[in-house]
Amino acid sequence: MIVGGSMAAVKAPSVLRRLREGGVQVNVIATRAALAFVTELSLSTAADGPVGTDAAWFSPRPDALHLALARADAAVIVGASAELLAGAAHGHANDLALATLLSVQGPVLWVPAMNNAMWNNRAVGANVARLREWGHHFLGPAVGAFGTRGEGAGIGRMAEPETIAAAVLELLKPTAPRDLDGLHVVVSAGPTREYLDPVRFISNPSSGKMGFAVAEDARDRGARVTLVTGPVNLPEPHGLEVVRIGAALELRDAVIRAAQTADIVVMTAAVADYRAAELKGEKQAKVAGDVSVHLTPNPDILAELGQNKGGRVLVGFAMETHAGVERAAAKAARKNADFILLNYPTQAGTAFGGDDNQVTLVRADGTFEDWPRTSKREVARRLLDEALRVRAQRTAD
Ligand code: CTP
Repeated sequence: MIVGGSMAAVKAPSVLRRLREGGVQVNVIATRAALAFVTELSLSTAADGPVGTDAAWFSPRPDALHLALARADAAVIVGASAELLAGAAHGHANDLALATLLSVQGPVLWVPAMNNAMWNNRAVGANVARLREWGHHFLGPAVGAFGTRGEGAGIGRMAEPETIAAAVLELLKPTAPRDLDGLHVVVSAGPTREYLDPVRFISNPSSGKMGFAVAEDARDRGARVTLVTGPVNLPEPHGLEVVRIGAALELRDAVIRAAQTADIVVMTAAVADYRAAELKGEKQAKVAGDVSVHLTPNPDILAELGQNKGGRVLVGFAMETHAGVERAAAKAARKNADFILLNYPTQAGTAFGGDDNQVTLVRADGTFEDWPRTSKREVARRLLDEALRVRAQRTAD
């Protein structure tokens, strides 16, 4: 645990105690600024061990302290300041905390605490985005009173000690099984854009989060992953091949090409069913009165994959407002998909844009399972579990 120079540093001993209660052995580092807010004595008492300080780093010793401390399974930065974020985002190593962070191999969790004006500053935002892109995790800051005088109610307040401890324990859980090793997984995500003229298009509010979650889970389980995505506002995932597309026809070409070597194809993309019959080369000026646009159907990619299925497992998604299970089962049968995850566009906090999802697994034979509402990542995990079951079943038959 690294404790940063923030008012929230006073909560660090409480986080330390909770982690120790959770059975975690914690080495603690305090930056010079942190020691202005919390004493070395209270940190070492809570950690039941010495505190790594810059003074200790520079005292003669047989090993390099930053390397010894970096042999941790995970790092958490409590009361992460703008300064620490900037240092880490730019590879600085001018104090023990930053030098250790440069050497840590395990996951890194930042728990920022700073005034909301600072947190919302573009420089801080850019540093956070950079660290996220490198796979660092972030917890908070939460919305709430910040500082002793409650100044700047808004973003800025650090997550509570129990939340931080729970997040660290989650990071330390055994890593995902490598049960997709050697498999190629193709995932489509996000919306398509069907241009009518050079500046106007038909699209939908798909965020791409579900597809990205499937791609990332497959990657973490050892698969080679091709993620074909429409325009979305999500950080670039690392360690997988990302193919960016616009229109459904481009999505089709990219998915069909990637699917040639695929073992599992998951179609989460919200494909526009229609495109303009004629794409106007020039911007269409407005005219008096009504206008109509002639639309023509897009190819159904999942159905096309289903016609030439080979040994692949095919998974679709569907959104229904009524008769969900029957319609989804009919869809799975029609498209020759192994199963479809049905979700409900009208549920708050799920499906379009949300971080959670509540889905029903529907097979072509009409059998179904309601899954509990959970994170999209957890839905992704269960989806891939089911795809592996289908694959094993097919090999057994
Ligand atoms: N899909 C596809 N190609 C399309 C349209 C959809 O591959 N042109 C895929 C989606 O990625 C999703 C599933 O098919 O996995 C959804 O089926 P779809 O028929 O689009 O569902 P709805 O649009 O809900 O169908 P309908 O409007 O007919 O109810």
